This record gives sequence, structure tokens and C-alpha cells, in this order.
Amino acid sequence: MDDTPETTAAAPRDYFDEPVAARYDETSSEMFDPEVVDPAVAFLAGLAWGGDALELGIGTGRLALPLSRRGIRVAGIDLSAAMVARMRAKPGGESVQVAMGDFATTSLGRQFSLAYLVYNTIENLTTQDAQVRCFHNVAAHLQPGGCFVIEVEVPQLQRLPPGETFRPFSVTATHLGFDEIDVATQRLTSHHYLVDGDHLERIAMPFRYVWPSELDLMARLAGMELRERWADWTREPFTADSVSHVSVWQRT
Ligand SMILES: C[S@@+](CC[C@H](N)C(=O)[O-])C[C@H]1O[C@@H](n2cnc3c(N)ncnc32)[C@H](O)[C@@H]1O
Repeated sequence: MDDTPETTAAAPRDYFDEPVAARYDETSSEMFDPEVVDPAVAFLAGLAWGGDALELGIGTGRLALPLSRRGIRVAGIDLSAAMVARMRAKPGGESVQVAMGDFATTSLGRQFSLAYLVYNTIENLTTQDAQVRCFHNVAAHLQPGGCFVIEVEVPQLQRLPPGETFRPFSVTATHLGFDEIDVATQRLTSHHYLVDGDHLERIAMPFRYVWPSELDLMARLAGMELRERWADWTREPFTADSVSHVSVWQRT
């Protein structure tokens, strides 16, 4: 149903342009809640061991800035100048080193003790090849023994009735949201219809959902081994009922 172009290896499209970036902190406000941020920052700080950290898709600095305040030197990679400009405008944001580009391929030319990719952002890479490339790029940025952390949903295919391709995730008077899922390619498009008075805005964003075991294989291909997998940042056990996971791979 959708006509959004594929992300290509050469030039992924920037879906977090000015209009999206301008509203990001507000529309994702629950992700900025200290109850969400604090355990994530504590988890990441514990793995950095006082070394430097690299955030792929650093965005407006939701985790990078509080992590920096804990004394960890954080650098980032992002495609979106508009998102990074929002981080730069916040206290401490001006001193964070950011390389603009695709985090599957962009290099900062140095190594870190920790790299992390949160809030389902691995799924913004819409091909398996791009996700594999991302793991290789991370491995090249990690010191031996360094860790890579991903926070991502578990694909919710158990909630997709057989033969169906659409799954609603928000049905309110002002927001209709549904995922369009192609189980053959693991491509997923999130459709949003936002009603503001007489104004209707439509947003469609493409993703590639990815299984935990598939991520483990990508890590192994890049020279990393699974070290820990939890259901969330507070280290709740990961089980068959978990809807997301926080996984840590270590460069061997
Ligand atoms: C959902 S936001 C997450 C931002 C931040 N990590 C957070 O937790 O709030 C995704 C971010 O990843 C960036 N992004 C998505 N795909 C990217 C890619 N292929 N290369 C670099 N940045 C990308 C977007 O520009 C955006 O800033």
C-alpha cells in the first residue's frame, strides 16, 4: 500500500527531518521520563567502565546527554541534522562529537569501550544487509572486550492473525496507527494518521523487524558473542512473553 522508497546502501532517507525533529521530544515524551532514562543510563554507564561510548542514532541526546553528565565521553552518529541540532541546543550538547551519516557505514576513526543502539533504531535499517553492515561497523569501533548494546522490540507476529498484513497499535480520535507487515521480507511500515482539528497528517515509516537469534548471528559474523540478554534495562529476565529485549554482545 505504501510508496515510500527503499533505504539504499548508498543513501538512506532521513525520516527524522525538521518537522519530525521539532516534535520528537514531545511525541516521545514517555521515553524522556526519568523512570525510563535512569535505568538505561545506569545500565550503559556500568558497561562503559569509565571508557568512551558511541551512540548510533544519537538523535536529540535523550540518553547521550545524561550519560555524559555521569562523566562518560559520548560520541554519536546520525543522519539527521535536524535531530542533532536539537541536541546541540541543550546544555552539554555542543561538546558531543557527532559524525553525520549512516550508522551502518560511517566511521569516527577511533575505538570505544561501549557502543549502543536503542529505541528500536536497528529496525530503521530496512534490509538484512544493512543490519549486518551495522554490526561490522560497530565491531570496527569497539576495543577488544568492548560491548555493543541493542534495545529493540521482539517482533509481535503472534498478534498478527494468519493471512492478515495489518495490525493496529493506536486507535483514538486523534491518532490512527497501524503496522503493515510483510512476513516474507520482514519489512514493516508503520502508518500514522494524525488528526489536529481540520488538519489530517499522514506519516509512513519503513522498518525491518529482526529476531533476537538473528541479531546473535549478525554479532557472531562481526566477531562478537552474546554476553547478556534481558527483558529491559532493569535486568528483568527475558522470557517467551517478553515484548522487547536489551542485549549485550562483546567483541571477542
Ligand atoms: C527513534 S530516534 C532515536 C534517537 C535517540 N537514540 C533516542 O533514543 O531518543 C532514531 C534516530 O536514529 C537516526 N537514524 C535512523 N536511521 C539512521 C541511519 N541509517 N544512520 C544514522 N542515523 C539514523 C534518526 O535520524 C534518529 O535521530
